[in-house]
Amino acid sequence: MNRRNWLKSGALAIAGATVPDFWRPAEAAEVGLPHLAGMAVKARLNKNENPYGPSQKAQKAIADAVSSGWMYQHEAAMAFRKMIAKENGVTEAHVMLGAGSGELLMASGIYYTIKGGSGTNIVGGDPTYMQLLRAASDLGNTFKKVPVTKDFTYDFNGMAAAVDSKTSLVYLCNPNNPTGVLEDASKMSAFCEDMAKKKPLFIDEAYIDYAADPKASSMMELVRKGHNVLIARTFSKVHGFAGLRIGYLIGQPETLREINKYCTGGGSISATSMKGAIASYLDEDFITYSKAKCKESKEYLYKVLKDKGYEYLPSSSNFVLFPLKSDGKSFVEKMAQKGVAIRNWEFAGQHWCRVSMGTLDEMKAFGEAFDTLA
Ligand SMILES: Cc1ncc(COP(=O)(O)O)c(C=O)c1O
Repeated sequence: MNRRNWLKSGALAIAGATVPDFWRPAEAAEVGLPHLAGMAVKARLNKNENPYGPSQKAQKAIADAVSSGWMYQHEAAMAFRKMIAKENGVTEAHVMLGAGSGELLMASGIYYTIKGGSGTNIVGGDPTYMQLLRAASDLGNTFKKVPVTKDFTYDFNGMAAAVDSKTSLVYLCNPNNPTGVLEDASKMSAFCEDMAKKKPLFIDEAYIDYAADPKASSMMELVRKGHNVLIARTFSKVHGFAGLRIGYLIGQPETLREINKYCTGGGSISATSMKGAIASYLDEDFITYSKAKCKESKEYLYKVLKDKGYEYLPSSSNFVLFPLKSDGKSFVEKMAQKGVAIRNWEFAGQHWCRVSMGTLDEMKAFGEAFDTLA
């Protein structure tokens, strides 16, 4: 076997293998249980990853790209941006790449905090995904939280009322993390279209691929209409690229140029990951398969919860949130002892558990552990 083929077969074998898993110190700290660090995990249901990815086609494209890895990533970035732009009906200048969407969220949080100056705030729902908001808060920005309604959707009237002259941005994650709730597209679009005339909007669509009709649920049309709206997307979820780090931001070119001052704008993504992402983007069969496996795991979990007399929030994403009947932190601890990693939340005077969709075997491991604790 020549060196090139050896590299290819090696890369495929590694990418397809199950890796022994354990609680990383950062994951243990995230749930406020640092002593879990190093503990073995048999069902990894705490990070909203896709255990079926990357697709075989993506793995092959990555392996094929290794031998030209001595060249910088520019050519791959141009091809990737072109494809994203075409697919979303915008120009390449409307697309900025990131090593995961997380760095684009953080750069945006930093940019709007500096732009907003002293006393500035960001308005968003509560609970929600905190990466942009934390980056902004660390620099002195205030997060004006507007609690979700009784049906766990955004309180758009409350948000409109919370916006003031010092608001630098409105952040909306849809479907929301940790609730998994997808907003009604017409209500969301009416709010966004009106709000975009007053304030910039950041819409985090990390989980939009899991919606029944992603295109109809997305707010991309607002960018195409010229509004100052940013849409963040990631390959970490339905494409199964969490460790390969691919994300992108779509918005008005002049806004992207400003945000690009606080990140590399794709310069930190490897050419191999981008070539894999191009192959994955075109691999519709794999996306259909990923969504079907996610649905199968969700239905299994819904049944486990129902059988035990638990409620849950019907989810449009690859995780499910359900209300606990006991303290969340000790529940996470007890499940960890049984090899199952999950996350807990506390809001609306209630403890909650968030379970990511793993393989059916992982869901069964959850079911068995839950059976002994519920
Ligand atoms: C809502 C949301 N946005 C963004 C991200 C960041 O993902 P990544 O940096 O892997 O693209 C996550 C990760 O879980 C998320 O849940």
